[in-house]
Amino acid sequence: MASVLQKLIMPLFSGPAEPPRNKVTVVGVGQVGMACAVSILLRDLCDELALVDVMEDKLKGEMMDLQHGSLFLKTPKIVAGKDYSVTAHSRIVVVTAGVRQQEGESRLNLVQRNVNIFKHIIPQIVRYSPNCILIVVSNPVDVLTYVTWKLSGLPKHRVIGSGTNLDSARFRYLMAEKLGIHSSSFNGWILGEHGDSSVPVWSGANVAGVSLQKLNPDIGTECDKENWKETHKRVVDSAYEVIKLKGYTNWAIGLSVADLIESLMKNLNRIHPVSTMVKGMFGIGDEVYLSLPCVLNSSGVSSVVNMTLTEDEMAQLKKSADTLWNIQRDLKDL
Ligand SMILES: *[C@@H]1O[C@H](CO)[C@@H](O)[C@H](O)[C@H]1NC(C)=O
Ligand SMILES: *[C@@H]1O[C@H](CO)[C@@H](O)[C@H](O)[C@H]1NC(C)=O
Repeated sequence: MASVLQKLIMPLFSGPAEPPRNKVTVVGVGQVGMACAVSILLRDLCDELALVDVMEDKLKGEMMDLQHGSLFLKTPKIVAGKDYSVTAHSRIVVVTAGVRQQEGESRLNLVQRNVNIFKHIIPQIVRYSPNCILIVVSNPVDVLTYVTWKLSGLPKHRVIGSGTNLDSARFRYLMAEKLGIHSSSFNGWILGEHGDSSVPVWSGANVAGVSLQKLNPDIGTECDKENWKETHKRVVDSAYEVIKLKGYTNWAIGLSVADLIESLMKNLNRIHPVSTMVKGMFGIGDEVYLSLPCVLNSSGVSSVVNMTLTEDEMAQLKKSADTLWNIQRDLKDL
């Protein structure tokens, strides 16, 4: 007796199964990893999504929950596993795994603990997807992107840190809100180190090509009577504020990571502030990752915009580079 399936579906062609073309893996299914996953799914950026974590029940639960949303998505395959074989053939791998800073813990100690975790993760990713592009989201992101680059052995244009992509988005939101316009219509960049010592490039802030610095030469400085500098301070404080209120930040980072993935997947050549290897730029002599405006295409970071920075902005970048190198050179087992 033929089965229902045999009676219903008449095969027309059968050939070997092909590997996925646009697969994305998210490593770490915490709040940040899942926000990335959902943002990627809702924007139809992949034909297969893989999730990896060490917490097997949580991992399976998240996978099943997403699969149950299949009717409302256009990603036909969602897989998960503790074993990195589920990640095979990924075009892009997003790394959100890692431990958070404990009270009173030094930054070096935090980084070292994450190095020890990344030593297990990164070689496995590269083993199963040797041609992938890695996006590091875990903090401190600039140091961990460097660590990932070292551990992966991949060329620098295929190891990217989410960097100041989110800081810039927050800046554009806050500035645009003050001006009563949409975030996308305020053009402004926050570069350098992600977090407290990020550098707002006031010299480049503009609306419709009109430079704000031309309208107010003191903008962003201590002498500015309108105190626009405050907006950058709010950007820096905003992560702490959200964490204080809800315990973590996840939605905005998830959305911003999906935006990077769109440029990579669709070969858009859009420019994003992301963390890249800056040795040789702006007088930086060490191998450090910092955010600069990067052109993203299907190969990864295809080029970097040579920003016209003021002396002060350049000094701030240099200072961040020195700080990061001082941490990196003391790391063990890299
Ligand atoms: C990405 O840009 C680089 C540099 O311009 C270029 O060599 C590469 O072929 C581009 N990749 C794709 C897929 O177009
Ligand atoms: C980048 O621009 C600066 C001036 O802003 C210039 O001195 C430098 O040579 C440029 N770098 C490259 C690689 O052309």
